[in-house]
Amino acid sequence: MEVVIVESVAELGSIVADAIESLLERKPDAVLGLATGSSPVPVYDELLARFARGRISFGRARAFLLDEYVGLPHGHPESYRSVIERSFTRRVDFAPGAVMGPDGNACDLTAACAAYESAIASAGGVDLQLLGVGADGHIGFNEPGSSLGSRTRLKTLTSQTRVDNARFFESKDNVPRHVLTQGVGTILDARHLVLVASGSGKAEPVAKVVEGPVTAMVPGSALQLHPHVTVVLDEVAASALALSDYYRETWAAKPPWQGL
Ligand code: F6R
Repeated sequence: MEVVIVESVAELGSIVADAIESLLERKPDAVLGLATGSSPVPVYDELLARFARGRISFGRARAFLLDEYVGLPHGHPESYRSVIERSFTRRVDFAPGAVMGPDGNACDLTAACAAYESAIASAGGVDLQLLGVGADGHIGFNEPGSSLGSRTRLKTLTSQTRVDNARFFESKDNVPRHVLTQGVGTILDARHLVLVASGSGKAEPVAKVVEGPVTAMVPGSALQLHPHVTVVLDEVAASALALSDYYRETWAAKPPWQGL
């Protein structure tokens, strides 16, 4: 696991956008895994800026969302599908149908989860998966106790996650209880995992994910089992890491040809 500590969220966005740009240069039809929430916004903003300058194209790429609320009406402004379209995918040149998410309105949610797994597999798997981390160490919406081998399925949000997401819904009571989420095992199938975090609320979960024991109680800690993980943090989110000096030295001495 590589840990990169940056001075600003703009730098965080730029480093991760570099990795996505380089992937799309090597493989224009790459499959991206997209997270919603606040953490990846600097990445999307930087990608939008590069797209506007004609430096990057998503015209042959495809994308899969990590998760979706269950039961929000189609087009609800806070459905993750609407959020990602508004903040990123509709503003670049993804082809129609190239961006997929779990169907939180399906009559048969179990079948929808299985279909989503098949769609990811048929696309050849995810090349680069962007991730944020929840206050309780969740990735996707895999709350504590999630099987580290889990696949896309229905989950119940913890009270803490509903409180955290109440900012998008005016009140916790309006935050759906249920979600469909890629499982921890699904996420670990992606070829490169890139977790981004900024701000003081992320210091504790980041320390548990990066340096704590691998445990279903902190689903993000499963990233330690993956061969290619990059964690990009601002100074505050990195502040509880025991080995932060080592991560800084390693990054400063990294040969430029290595990339992320
Ligand atoms: C969102 C997702 C979640 C968020 C996490 C952090 O698609 O999968 O795991 O990444 O809840 O949310 P923010 O970034 O809003 O702090």
